[in-house]
Amino acid sequence: MAEALRIGIAGLGTVGAAVARVLSHKAAELRRQCGRDLVVTAVSARQRNRDRGIDLAAAHWFDDPDELAKSPDIDVFVELIGGAEGAPLASVKAALEAGRHVVTANKALLSKHGVALAEIAEKKGVLLNYEAAVAGGIPVIKTMREAMAGNSISRVFGILNGTCNYILTRMEAEGLSFDACLEDAQRLGYAEADPTFDIEGHDTAHKLSILTSLAFGTKISADDVYMEGISNISQADIRAAGELGYRIKLLGVAQKTDSGIEQRVHPTMVPTASVIAQVHGVTNAVAIETDILGELLLSGPGAGGSATASAVVGDIADIAKSRPGFQHGPVFGRPAKELRPYKKAQMRSHAGGYFIRLTVHDRIGVFAAIAKRMADNDISLESIVQHAADATDRKTVILVTHETTEAAVRKAVEGVTKDGHLIDKPQVIRIERAE
Ligand SMILES: NC(=O)c1ccc[n+]([C@@H]2O[C@H](COP(=O)([O-])OP(=O)(O)OC[C@H]3O[C@@H](n4cnc5c(N)ncnc54)[C@H](OP(=O)(O)O)[C@@H]3O)[C@@H](O)[C@H]2O)c1
Repeated sequence: MAEALRIGIAGLGTVGAAVARVLSHKAAELRRQCGRDLVVTAVSARQRNRDRGIDLAAAHWFDDPDELAKSPDIDVFVELIGGAEGAPLASVKAALEAGRHVVTANKALLSKHGVALAEIAEKKGVLLNYEAAVAGGIPVIKTMREAMAGNSISRVFGILNGTCNYILTRMEAEGLSFDACLEDAQRLGYAEADPTFDIEGHDTAHKLSILTSLAFGTKISADDVYMEGISNISQADIRAAGELGYRIKLLGVAQKTDSGIEQRVHPTMVPTASVIAQVHGVTNAVAIETDILGELLLSGPGAGGSATASAVVGDIADIAKSRPGFQHGPVFGRPAKELRPYKKAQMRSHAGGYFIRLTVHDRIGVFAAIAKRMADNDISLESIVQHAADATDRKTVILVTHETTEAAVRKAVEGVTKDGHLIDKPQVIRIERAE
């Protein structure tokens, strides 16, 4: 039997402790699958004496993850600290430079420094595996990197943040407010104390930027992702979407268009009958459209110690099975030096259907004025519905457009706002084609 694979884990929190647990509990099975032992020989975290529910006494302790990364006594450095700068960046770089394979679950790190790190890994002939960084336990990186050779991808989209999907699912199923659902998500540990990163779309944008690079062979560019979060989605939107045959999801979408690549994260209406609309709660899903395969949808647990550990251990096992000269392909599917600059499509040229909800004064002529603003901007309407005025003489007008552009919709809504009929901020939600 080959020599044991020596593993150093930096970060022993939710994911790191779960990885150590799986490696210990499944040692015999992993030995059979990999043809060698997988042994945790070194670890690092901030607090040495913290009880993590696992026995790591046999592993060498490092206060500094950098020292662990450079240690000659490991073959693989597993980074599970989190964050784009500081210790995780320095230690991953140090490990690659020292010729160690690296496994990480860190989307923030990869979305910012992924290409530079891939260049080092490829120069040094070591693997940089990151399955857990996108959609937790779902094997989407492996699928895109290894199982789709020859396919040209036209669009990849998905539900990449479990917290947002949990909130939207409960708002729809139980008629609760956004704030009430967010509070529950925090109580159940699905959302951080500061949930901004999740609910305003940053987390989804990081993951999407990695998928974009894999799909289109581009450099990673998370700063260019158009982003809107879910905090302004109301019960009125959820109900109106349901009546029209749609469900609201926070989607990350990367798509090739004539004017470049669209990368966008925003609340999206998807047909209630579509497969992605059936993805509920904290579950994640990724849809990939290609010329050879058609549409593939992968769905499963996107977070949590156990599911994420499954992806991390899968990455470690791939390294255990690899042999010099017979390693897997480049980090982002193409050699890092060949990744092209990303050509950004302007959001104003985005084409699609739109849902527009307007709260207006109950006056004669308002309905006609709205319809005129749409027509003036060449927007063809699939439906326009007005709800009866309430006691305060406000009424709601809901429009669904045929395919049009973002620029036309923004201009039309600006026009309606200038006309002085609006009582509340207008709501605009993009509609996404989905099977
Ligand atoms: N949690 C999930 O469901 C999930 C899912 C997918 C991906 N991820 C990714 O996995 C990574 C880890 O997430 P997590 O949820 O496990 O985080 P976590 O529970 O906060 O754990 C972080 C760990 O890093 C250690 N640490 C922090 N700073 C350190 C430093 N300077 N040097 C050494 N160790 C340090 C902490 O030590 P102490 O324990 O001593 O404080 C802790 O053990 C992140 O990149 C995250 O985005 C997480």
